Amino acid sequence: MTWNQQHWAGVLAANWAIDADLEPLAGEFDLNFHVSARDGRRFVLKVMRANCDASLVDMMCSAHDYVHAQGNASNTEFPVPSVVPATSGARWCAAVDADGRERFVWLISFIEGRNYAQFRPQDSALIRELGQRIAHLDRALAGFSHPAMQRDLKWDLLKADWIDAHAERIADRAQRAIVQRISAQYAALKPALLREPIAAIHNDLNDYNILVAHDAGQRPHVSGLLDFGDIVIGPTVAELAIAAAYVALDQPDPERAIAALVAGYNAVTPLTGAQLDLIWPLILMRLAVSVTNSAMMQLKRPDDPYVVVSEAPAWRLLERAEYIPAARVAARLRVACGLAPGDSASRTLEWIGQARGQFAPVMGVELDDVPVGELSPIGCTVPRNPTCMTDAEALALGVASKDAYGARATRIGRYREPRLIYTDQAFAFGPHRGSDRRTVHIGVDIFMPPGALVHTPLDGTIEVVEYRKQHLDYGGMVILRHAPADGVSFSTLYGHLSRASVSRLRKGQQIRKGEAFAELGDPAENGGWDPHLHLQLALNPDLLGHDWPGVADPDDLEYWCAVCPNPAALLNLPDARIAYEPLDMEAIRRERHTRFASNLRLSYAEPCLLVRAWRTHMYDEWGRAYLDAYNNVPHVGHSHPRIEAVAREQLRRVNTNTRYLQLELMEFADTLLAKAPPQMTHVFFVNSGSEGNELALRLARAHTSGKDMVVVDHAYHGNTTGAIDLSPYKFNKPRGGGAPEWVQVVPVADVYRGEHRGDDAAERFASAVDGAIERIRARGGRLAGFIAETLPSVGGQIIPPVGYLPAVYARIRAAGGVCVADEVQTGLGRLGEFYWGFQQQCASPDIIVLGKPLGNGHPLGAVMTTAEIAQSFDNGIEYFSTFGGSTLSCRIGTEVLRIVDEEGLQENARVTGNYLLQGLRDLQHRHEVIGDVRGAGLFVGVDLVTDRETRMPATTIADYVKNRMREKRILIGTEGPADNILKIRPPLTIARDNVDQLLATLDGVLSETAANI
Ligand SMILES: Cc1ncc(COP(=O)(O)O)c(C=O)c1O
Repeated sequence: MTWNQQHWAGVLAANWAIDADLEPLAGEFDLNFHVSARDGRRFVLKVMRANCDASLVDMMCSAHDYVHAQGNASNTEFPVPSVVPATSGARWCAAVDADGRERFVWLISFIEGRNYAQFRPQDSALIRELGQRIAHLDRALAGFSHPAMQRDLKWDLLKADWIDAHAERIADRAQRAIVQRISAQYAALKPALLREPIAAIHNDLNDYNILVAHDAGQRPHVSGLLDFGDIVIGPTVAELAIAAAYVALDQPDPERAIAALVAGYNAVTPLTGAQLDLIWPLILMRLAVSVTNSAMMQLKRPDDPYVVVSEAPAWRLLERAEYIPAARVAARLRVACGLAPGDSASRTLEWIGQARGQFAPVMGVELDDVPVGELSPIGCTVPRNPTCMTDAEALALGVASKDAYGARATRIGRYREPRLIYTDQAFAFGPHRGSDRRTVHIGVDIFMPPGALVHTPLDGTIEVVEYRKQHLDYGGMVILRHAPADGVSFSTLYGHLSRASVSRLRKGQQIRKGEAFAELGDPAENGGWDPHLHLQLALNPDLLGHDWPGVADPDDLEYWCAVCPNPAALLNLPDARIAYEPLDMEAIRRERHTRFASNLRLSYAEPCLLVRAWRTHMYDEWGRAYLDAYNNVPHVGHSHPRIEAVAREQLRRVNTNTRYLQLELMEFADTLLAKAPPQMTHVFFVNSGSEGNELALRLARAHTSGKDMVVVDHAYHGNTTGAIDLSPYKFNKPRGGGAPEWVQVVPVADVYRGEHRGDDAAERFASAVDGAIERIRARGGRLAGFIAETLPSVGGQIIPPVGYLPAVYARIRAAGGVCVADEVQTGLGRLGEFYWGFQQQCASPDIIVLGKPLGNGHPLGAVMTTAEIAQSFDNGIEYFSTFGGSTLSCRIGTEVLRIVDEEGLQENARVTGNYLLQGLRDLQHRHEVIGDVRGAGLFVGVDLVTDRETRMPATTIADYVKNRMREKRILIGTEGPADNILKIRPPLTIARDNVDQLLATLDGVLSETAANI
């Protein structure tokens, strides 16, 4: 401890009889110390600035006590520290500092957690909880009063006008103008603010006065609300606006963050529309006070860079706010609190609902019997490539639904329907192929022939009439404004009209109910679409201007569906008839449990339901893209059109089995054997990796007359009885039953975590086989062989030292056994430089087993072996696998092998795999938690550790990272005996752009608090 710390430790001992070490904590004017008492207790010692008024200390202590008393009375726990009285019973003491000045000292309990400002991620769930906490705190504080609260405080939002006189201190003219504008808006709303009820409020819930704790495996939660030094009598909207100002700093979407906070508050203490309208202007005013105050301090302390740096986030938000309309934020906050998006919105919606059935038919005919088509990812497969819709597909959208729903000329396209057809970059939020994008249709479509007349459902005035010539835009588009009754006002949009119809119309023109004011355009003039009307309703048209989005972000639907509700009533239809009915995810999860044992596991804390896939992406019900960096089964990419084509074609011809002569069987065998080493002359086709390994075991036994096998620790070879017996990963689990007596386990050749490192590691790991052979002899057994994943995957994406497998194989062969290479994970080019894993090891197996990638999702495996072994197996008993080697399987398998070659996927695994590995190694420099990065091609492991020295597995962090990546829609897994290794094993189609997205996301997640504990 420094002299100063010792000094205050002495004061603590003298007044509180606590013997402790002190560590300084941050504080603007006062000294704060973290107190570690010798008896293990922890506190915070607060030493007030010199000349601090005693009444202020008394006020703070009283406020803490008051909140706790309220908590006791209402059985609520508040995350507020308790004041610890001195031995005299006093809540604070006076003591002299090193300079001889009197300082007031008090002690409070310690609360675990980090400053909100430094906590990551600051996500909606946490912000919402904060809103609830603040509402509870405000309730508790409401009755508090203390004489010291009556003071002039520059942070009092009721008296914030003081900044007008000081704004000129802001040196930058543009910045000064921002503050002046905000102040003028504040002056305009002040009468409304003054009408708000007032009570004691904390008044300074800035991001350093909020603590967040994150216990392993739990969601982060607000653990502390600190520092009651700025408490005033004020309106609760000011409390909320102050917290919101800090919560919004540097948020990618500040409006959503503020909405989450306000929604949390509203769940405890409901807010009115008028209160919600005040929040955004007050947020800006609080930031304006803060930057003006800093500008003044800067004049006083020109050399203190901290003043400028600390204000930078506030300026960033203020500058950004120039482009955020206050009305939009107000509407958002209202919707987040369950209100309609504007004062007239709920009355308008009610009016429209009541007029249902009385509107003039928009297409001139009633639509009651018109079938509803499906364009959702569940309901159709358009577009074939969800990253790029073709012109032909756009022109046949109505036909897509016609196929499914009968050949009616007219069809309706649903409201609130997710669709993958919006593939243009304009719909994307980010630069990547799989970046989040807008997918949900917030209008309704009526497919009809070009030239069909469009009528107004009620009187209206043309507000916008445009021709939009951009491909896949609206073509002709009209927005009508309607004000049919007092307090009822809304607009309707008609898209994909003919060019001629919009050229006839002009802004301000009145259109009478039922008037045929336009006609549908043909594809040459409607943006290139199958002819249809896009009809959309908006309750707050002023928020949307000319450019209404017709499609919304699936993660922001609450807002968009409130602003643009279901227009069914305008078509005289019930809402439910045209609304997309989303899946009930909870029910699906519940139902699954009723039919399947729970060890049929789901990945991720929040499981995914994926309904479409293409190349390296999968898509959920809402059309949200997930980058698949985990699945090694769709080896040549999800939904490969060539695989689809051969499967479809073969199913039309014949699909039979190996008891007949099949040309396809021969072709597949030749194609596969051509890829294998020359000693592989015979092949058996099976349905899975397990069946392959099972057969390999029989081959080894038939050839050697032995029974015993040597296996590698942590290995997995499949789920059948024999394969489980070969899999320590399963039989060594607590209720796994242990190794059968005919199985000997040798350590996995892991040079990062294993016993041996350095140059001779290969030989030393291999020598463990000697012991295994010895044990077989000792038990009177006979060796059949050795089986290993050539690069162990479930063991932790291990790359054995070069020379390991040859050294093992030599020992096994010398003892009379055969060597089985399980290439289920590693074969067919995944390793980039090598087509097979055993090539990486310069080893030459006797039996090769293939599974997962061979059928690209079709259940298909293969076992290749030598003529001698095949002959030994041929003992007169028929070998037959009903589906193994079916004609369909052979076609698919052959096509997979061809695609790997023809699309250069092995080379892509090499190049993109190296790029990925390099990127991960760069991350390793920045993130202590990455102990090791290893891999070959697109077989990659990232070993997470809590300590690089001891290499202690960071299992909890790995689980956190995997789940956070999934939340950010990048699928990876965890693996290894301690489940601490991030497993990255994407389809071989993964591109550099996908890797960039993966690396940037991983970098962000690894920077989060839970990954740095
Ligand atoms: C190395 C290895 N061998 C065999 C298998 C079993 O393959 P399947 O699930 O197709 O039966 C797996 C499956 O994960 C595996 O990873």
